[in-house]
Amino acid sequence: ELPFAESYKIKMVEPIRRSTREERERWIKEAHYNLFNLKSEHVFIDLLTDSGTGAMSDRQWSAMMLGDESYAGASSYFKMKEAIYNILGFPYFLPTHQGRAAENVLFSVLIKEGDFIPGNSHFDTTKGHIEFRKAHAVDLTIDEAANTQLEVPFKGNIDINKLERFLKEHPVSKVPFICMTVTNNTAGGQPVSMENLCGVSKLAKKYGIPVLFDSARFAENAYFIKMREKGYADKTIKEIVKEMYQYADYMTMSSKKDAIVNMGGFIGFKDEETFQKATVFNIMYEGYVTYGGMSGRDMNALAVGLDEGTEFDTLDNRIRQVAYLGQKLDEYGIPYQRPAGGHAIFVDAKRVLPNVPREEFPAQTLGVELYLEAGIRGVEIGAILADRDPETRENRYPELELLRLAIPRRTYTNNHMDVVAAALKNVFDRRDSITRGVVITKEAPILRHFTVELEKA
Ligand code: F0G
Repeated sequence: ELPFAESYKIKMVEPIRRSTREERERWIKEAHYNLFNLKSEHVFIDLLTDSGTGAMSDRQWSAMMLGDESYAGASSYFKMKEAIYNILGFPYFLPTHQGRAAENVLFSVLIKEGDFIPGNSHFDTTKGHIEFRKAHAVDLTIDEAANTQLEVPFKGNIDINKLERFLKEHPVSKVPFICMTVTNNTAGGQPVSMENLCGVSKLAKKYGIPVLFDSARFAENAYFIKMREKGYADKTIKEIVKEMYQYADYMTMSSKKDAIVNMGGFIGFKDEETFQKATVFNIMYEGYVTYGGMSGRDMNALAVGLDEGTEFDTLDNRIRQVAYLGQKLDEYGIPYQRPAGGHAIFVDAKRVLPNVPREEFPAQTLGVELYLEAGIRGVEIGAILADRDPETRENRYPELELLRLAIPRRTYTNNHMDVVAAALKNVFDRRDSITRGVVITKEAPILRHFTVELEKA
């Protein structure tokens, strides 16, 4: 059998620059040990996020030339509408400038103070938009997700028993919807099974509560269903996606991930009434109905991206690269959230830097060390990201303390993955000597990780 190779070739390249350790020592100090504050030109391999950082295809670029920039009724809007209906089955939609804007608009309609939003792990902007409205995000992800070393095929699942107990104990009027994030980013880019989505839908129907899919990486989720769930091996990704979305009443989408555009998002609705209510907020916050937060050319690229992003080869190329990095880390014995996720490797910082106390943020410390080692930028998914408890203002220490290495789509080669793994190994090899981390000197009241300032402990 022949080895695997990607089903694309490269038409355009962008130079990236190596730096010296001395330069990086200076830059990271100037950035207050917050990787978001680094200039991108001071980063060699940028694994901060897979959001908006992918390489568009030649078909997407050519679609951009045909963008219709009319204020109202643009053909680009109708192309996007058709793609959303054909691929995801939503008859109503609103374009937004990105995923969190979709959350802002939809939650303005659905959430009121004191509400509860149960789900598998809510993404940070989702939790932010819930808590900003003085409501509560209730994480009911399966317990297995908190043990990075357990190999579970659908580690992103919600615990159906916990959900049923929760719904029994709370008045339906306080639960405006259930939020399922596919794939579960916070738990490590882990997928949710079709069986789980179906189970949530059954319970939701029983209690008369709608279901929202936070859909940034829905196509990667469908890929894992095809590869891992009994009965789906012979189905196409598009068939699986159609089946998944039978179970959703609404979707919020950050198109910067699986639709492989640099900017964009949308809300999908099955019912006209909520769509009409949300339209008012969309016009206020985003833009008129037929463009929301997007230009015509971006809507065109998004329509093509939704189609290409739900092709098996696109997903196979991508997810194999993430798995490749995982295999390299296995060779070096570096612990990460197992199995490898769809969009990223989440390194288990508590195990890689066991001597750094939690109050000194091991995952952030590992991120800084990896940057110093080779100019690689990851992102902390740990106690800094978890923010303080909105009521007690105490730090929240989640069970998982991870450094996420998110792989942009079609952007880096496996040679880059080799460098990432080798650099991480170097840090891992000197873990005994890394005993101190970082402490916060300045922070925002919510979503603090973006702007936090730190110093060495
Ligand atoms: N939902 C999920 C599951 C996400 O991962 C993100 C963004 C959003 C919503 C918000 O979308 O950025 O377009 O406003 N995740 C990025 C990340 C930022 O790096 O994981 P957005």
